[in-house]
Amino acid sequence: MRSMLAEVNGVKLAFSDSGSGDAVVLLVHGFPLNRSMWEPQLGALRSVCRVIAPDVRGFGASAAGPPGPLTMEQHADDLAALLDVLDVREPVIFCGLSMGGYIGFAMWRRHRQRIRAFVLADTRATPDTPEGRAGRFAMAERAEALRSSVPAVEAMMPRMFSPTLRPGTPQEVLVRAMMTSTSARAVADGARGLAARPDSLELLETIDMPTLLIVGEHDQLTPPTDSEAMLARLPNARLERIDMAGHMSNLENPVQFNDVLLEFVRRLAPPGHVPSVEPQHPPRAPTGPPGRPPTP
Ligand code: MLT
Repeated sequence: MRSMLAEVNGVKLAFSDSGSGDAVVLLVHGFPLNRSMWEPQLGALRSVCRVIAPDVRGFGASAAGPPGPLTMEQHADDLAALLDVLDVREPVIFCGLSMGGYIGFAMWRRHRQRIRAFVLADTRATPDTPEGRAGRFAMAERAEALRSSVPAVEAMMPRMFSPTLRPGTPQEVLVRAMMTSTSARAVADGARGLAARPDSLELLETIDMPTLLIVGEHDQLTPPTDSEAMLARLPNARLERIDMAGHMSNLENPVQFNDVLLEFVRRLAPPGHVPSVEPQHPPRAPTGPPGRPPTP
């Protein structure tokens, strides 16, 4: 996957941009991961649409900004600015898994004109419980004290897949590698940012765009009941359960995940009369290796 860099909001974000077509899908990864998690989706999607997959600030090959909680609002502002830099004027199909979904809610709060449809996978609209928040702060402190992402690996790896997935499978190795390569600072600032996210349950009632909810049947981190609670509030949504998959449903059962994702995207494309949005800033050229030319 070719990596490009774009300067947004004072930080260099890494991203890939491939495929072509009228529809644009923005793939937003989970915590504490990076865009490599979308590998099985990229090949499938780019045959039908343009697909942009960023590393959000602090993660993967993207630079970290100033120290402090990495809020969902900051990530949403970065993604809107990235779309400006890439001169993507048409609203996108926003596809987020877990933290990617939380960022989607912030995107809807702040930049809803950029969204034409949502895919919300293995995520939830509720904020952390007090215990959940305490766990995030403890993880942040341990990561800082040890200067390592190991506390995140230890706390999260046992719950990322269905209980039957054996250690050492390619998916397990990939997710472990992503977590291990994440900096201690991204773990700490990311965990504090996740703890600060607001309740988005009522917001769901305002999301009138077509929404596909996806959840692994064995998701332990954001279980199917969370998706069912979202479905009950969303005015224009449907829910697909992925068999034999846990939290990383896109990796554990990519065949079924891609089937439901592609069917949804194909039904939306071409966008027909979907209006363009004016960029908030004049488009700037991406920095780093040469990017694709902006779409007219
Ligand atoms: C994720 O996959 O992004 C995380 O599990 C989100 C969370 O911890 O709430």
